[in-house]
Amino acid sequence: MAESIFDMAPVTEPERQYYFIENARVLLGRKEEELHHPLSFHVTTFGCQMNARDSEKMTGILADMGLMESENETESDIVLFNTCTIRDNANQKFYGHLGTLGGKNQRNRDRIVAVCGCMAQEPECVEKLSKSYKFVNIIFGTHNIYKLAELICRHLEGEEHVVDVWDKPGEIVEDIPSIRKYPFKSGVNIMFGCNNYCTYCIVPYVRGNERSREAKEIIRECEKLASDGVKEVMLLGQNVNSYGNGIEGSISFPELLREVEKVDGIERIRFMTSHPKDLSDELIQVMKDSKKICRHIHLPLQSGSTRILKAMNRRYTREQYLELAMKIRREIPDIAITTDIIVGFPGETTEDVDDTVDMIHRVKYDGAFTFVYSPRTGTPAASMDGRQPKEWIKREFDRVLTAVQDESKEMAARFLGNTETVLVEDINEQDPGLVTGRMSNNLMVHFPGDRSLIGKLVDVKLTECKGFYYMGER
Ligand code: 5AD
Ligand code: SF4
Repeated sequence: MAESIFDMAPVTEPERQYYFIENARVLLGRKEEELHHPLSFHVTTFGCQMNARDSEKMTGILADMGLMESENETESDIVLFNTCTIRDNANQKFYGHLGTLGGKNQRNRDRIVAVCGCMAQEPECVEKLSKSYKFVNIIFGTHNIYKLAELICRHLEGEEHVVDVWDKPGEIVEDIPSIRKYPFKSGVNIMFGCNNYCTYCIVPYVRGNERSREAKEIIRECEKLASDGVKEVMLLGQNVNSYGNGIEGSISFPELLREVEKVDGIERIRFMTSHPKDLSDELIQVMKDSKKICRHIHLPLQSGSTRILKAMNRRYTREQYLELAMKIRREIPDIAITTDIIVGFPGETTEDVDDTVDMIHRVKYDGAFTFVYSPRTGTPAASMDGRQPKEWIKREFDRVLTAVQDESKEMAARFLGNTETVLVEDINEQDPGLVTGRMSNNLMVHFPGDRSLIGKLVDVKLTECKGFYYMGER
């Protein structure tokens, strides 16, 4: 029997994947000749910064296979969806999107459609995709995105439907290709997964248990990014404060920040997300001492009621959270604190929401994402009693939203007249005579400028506050 490309593949990673990238390049080259046009790909990303970073890696793999990135999803030869399942509306949005593509897919049978990410980790989703969306050729989860080239090879070599979803994470594979969405800023994974098991949350089930990357790999990546012109890194983890747990002799998160700070060329450091239960005084001190760490912390509250926090398994009380937030405000007065809040958790009462609203006024959030509780299959909260009716949720949600907006408008206005350093990100969408930049505290500023400023750090005077953003001039 003739040897297949799979028989000869190296067993170690990432060598194995570089081997499949080369093979995919040859196989796709043949397809290109048959079809008489250069092959293109499109990656559509749903969800959080983790997914955005994963998509950059998969974009790198696809580009290395010799494919052209296309803006147009419906016209592309390989379409990849990186999905999110944090709330049910994320799932619905994806199915809607896929349905639209499916209609058009009938007219383009040569297309390869692949689905990966958090939804693919759920058996019901895989079943639904396999049954009702037969035009999906490849399904894989969150733990094996680095294998994209291998999975595409399997499909190109004749497997009509490739499904490769792992229920547990494998090794952390370093050095896979990546193409950044922005040349001047990048996410850097410092850990994967989550061990906190908040009772509403599906992340530990679809992203697996918590694993930290080796500090030296993180620093090496930051150095490489800096030499590539990256000025801002965002250190990514579901709970960065527990960085290093489980790695013998590992440094802590504040120590890691100190190391990243030493990387020449990196001018700004952000991180996401901090769980309030283990944010240390050392972290506050490192932030306070640092010239590079941005004046912004995302500190998810979820609820201002100790009773609900307990049911959520958040492991802090409202008093502990408040004390922490006040300490941060005291130590770093110009910092912006943002948060996540859930309304409608099982058993939540109007008094509990009163506590949340009260907390919003005390902490004075600079910004907040507010979510309606969404039951996720397999999580403890999904089988808890005491769900409130829709009208109640709508009313209480609006009450929380109003409180957040009132406070954050007031907080944003406190910078008026300041001169702030901003990293210019883009030309303004509405007015091409303006550019848009981000301040250290994450607020956006629009000011006169041109394309040549993109990726530069410039000082801008904040002349007018427009609620949640500023107008300025250099
Ligand atoms: N329902 C509503 N919001 C949720 N979040 C996580 N799981 C759920 C859920 N089941 C929110 C939390 C978290 C943010 C990323 O998403 O507020 O911090
Ligand atoms: Fe979900 Fe809680 Fe982990 Fe955040 S800390 S990802 S909310 S389980």
